Amino acid sequence: MNSNRLSSLSHLVLALLFAFASVRPASAQDPSSSAATVSKAGVTPGATAGATPATAVAPAAGGADAAAVQAGDALFKANCTQCHAVNEQVVGPALGGISKRRPITWIIPWIHNSSKVVASGDDYAVALYNKFQKQQMPSFAALSDKEITSIVAYITSQEGQAAGPTSQVVGPVDGKTDGGSAGADAGGSGKAVDILLIALVVVLIVMVVTLVIIGNLMKDVLRGRKDLDGRDTEILDQRFDWGKLYRSSVMRGIVGTVFALVLLYEGVQSVMAVGLTQGYQPTQPIAFSHKLHAGTNQINCAYCHTSVYKGKSANIPSANICMNCHSQIKTESPEIKKIYRAIERKQPVQWVRIHNLPDLAYFNHSQHTQVGGLQCQTCHGPIQNMEVVYQYSALTMGWCINCHRETPLNTKGNAYYDNLVKLHDTKNAGAPFTVSSNGGTECSKCHY
Ligand code: HEC
Ligand code: HEC
Ligand code: HEC
Ligand code: HEC
Ligand code: HEC
Ligand code: HEC
Repeated sequence: MNSNRLSSLSHLVLALLFAFASVRPASAQDPSSSAATVSKAGVTPGATAGATPATAVAPAAGGADAAAVQAGDALFKANCTQCHAVNEQVVGPALGGISKRRPITWIIPWIHNSSKVVASGDDYAVALYNKFQKQQMPSFAALSDKEITSIVAYITSQEGQAAGPTSQVVGPVDGKTDGGSAGADAGGSGKAVDILLIALVVVLIVMVVTLVIIGNLMKDVLRGRKDLDGRDTEILDQRFDWGKLYRSSVMRGIVGTVFALVLLYEGVQSVMAVGLTQGYQPTQPIAFSHKLHAGTNQINCAYCHTSVYKGKSANIPSANICMNCHSQIKTESPEIKKIYRAIERKQPVQWVRIHNLPDLAYFNHSQHTQVGGLQCQTCHGPIQNMEVVYQYSALTMGWCINCHRETPLNTKGNAYYDNLVKLHDTKNAGAPFTVSSNGGTECSKCHY
């Protein structure tokens, strides 16, 4: 056999395998594209227990139904997937089974204005609201009854189906937080592609090896024959000339161009990412878990981050706040002893800061949480499911501005806005009164 050629072939095969192997993990590392899903168990289901009956109601009864489901699909994706999925808990509860859990006469006013339903003292609503750490669901007053019915029809049509990769669930970066069966489901189709690719590579290798063996066999047969002339033997003994390939200007051109393109791409990527720390998840000095405290134990965010509704910054709690509970709870735990040690030494716990805007930008929490009525999760992600906090949003200027362009101002019951809204409506009738209509994209609002 021609060992020389075989070895160059095995190099080719190895290179193929290597290229294949290096493609997959790249996408898995990207936190924003990660298909990992948020745990169902993170916050106690309680009210939503038994939410997902295995019976998927077939929507195909008539054309009208199918149209409603389709309309509901679009409305759901546009308004609700930010916080809800059908079969798993995201920021809000899993909505599967909602039509059995609640009558439509409850669902419609709830979606129009959930805080009104809670304020009315409705037992179910109050219990649910408390279960979700008093997070207010935004009001969707603009949705008609028919649109809400179609959303419910869509939800009913999706019940019991495994969470597909289309559900917009953004998960924690680290696998240790929670794998969960939902995560495995979402990875299902990805796995099928993997298996297909591996099968193709194997077939390719088998084909190449077979061809080489056949080629060498034929050459051996030919060499055995005596009636070959000079040119035949020359072809038979031909070797692959690496030197020639190396000297070929075409080959050099191709390799050079590919190299330059890769370099350019990487360069642009890294320049764009300067100062970007999305996904940043440092190890903290004490293994403090938001999932345990804010999730399982339902401690209100503002119990610890006391100034988040009142001030510019959301403070990090001092060790005294921990001691409200940990003077009694888990006193023998080595992690809790670190709190005692900090207090004895009169030194604060050295938490590692995660979110950090540059000094040139002004951001105020109370403006967004108290005045704007935004949920913490809109900007910080599913904190109540995070074992270790990571930076969920990009915190770029574009991120701030996009939200200001799209988000209507929360003007209800705020007399400050009355005249401004009137003025806006006479000038641009119909256009929503967004943060940016109120000057929220002016440079000086965010830059001193
Ligand atoms: C910003 C997050 C957010 C968005 C967007 C959102 N919801 Fe909610 N939703 C919640 C939260 C949180 C709850 C839990 C109750 C509470 O804390 O007020 C909830 C509760 C519900 C409930 C009651 C669920 C149950 O198990 O009884 C329904 C129904 C519902 N939402 C429907 C919708 C629909 C339909 C949309 C889109 C039009 C939507 N939600 C958009 C956060 C959101
Ligand atoms: C029992 C106290 C406690 C509760 C309740 C709590 N946190 Fe925290 N939070 C902390 C501590 C301590 C840290 C600093 C350590 C860390 O990053 O995990 C922190 C850090 C954070 C950070 C990152 C801060 C940074 O460095 O940039 C965010 C964001 C955050 N919390 C949001 C929330 C939200 C949202 C909730 C409610 C769902 C919440 N927290 C509930 C104690 C708490
Ligand atoms: C409102 C009460 C409360 C407050 C405030 C509180 N915790 Fe906890 N913490 C708990 C509960 C409840 C547990 C769960 C105990 C268990 O698993 O039995 C816990 C568990 C823990 C654990 C896990 C201990 C172990 O070994 O399992 C750590 C670490 C911890 N807390 C740190 C802190 C820190 C740091 C603070 C202050 C920033 C804090 N906690 C504030 C109630 C609280
Ligand atoms: C509009 C988006 C937005 C909302 C809503 C929001 N945050 Fe923040 N949060 C930020 C930004 C931006 C920073 C970084 C601020 C900085 O570096 O000056 C931050 C930082 C923090 C920090 C670190 C300390 C600090 O102030 O720098 C904590 C803790 C925190 N947020 C908690 C919360 C809690 C709790 C809520 C809900 C009650 C919440 N945030 C709601 C955008 C938001
Ligand atoms: C998720 C949406 C959202 C994001 C992201 C967001 N904001 Fe806002 N912002 C709002 C809303 C809503 C208001 C209006 C609150 C109100 O006054 O009712 C607002 C108001 C403001 C105001 C006051 C504007 C005025 O007219 O007085 C400033 C300043 C501001 N935001 C800065 C920032 C900065 C800086 C960032 C990025 C670090 C940011 N915001 C990210 C939603 C957002
Ligand atoms: C809604 C708030 C907001 C508004 C309005 C806004 N900016 Fe920014 N800007 C930011 C934030 C936040 C950053 C920091 C982003 C980062 O760290 O990546 C920033 C960063 C910048 C930077 C980059 C500075 C650097 O060192 O990287 C420049 C330049 C800038 N802004 C100019 C402007 C100009 C000019 C306007 C008016 C047309 C404007 N900004 C309006 C929030 C805002």
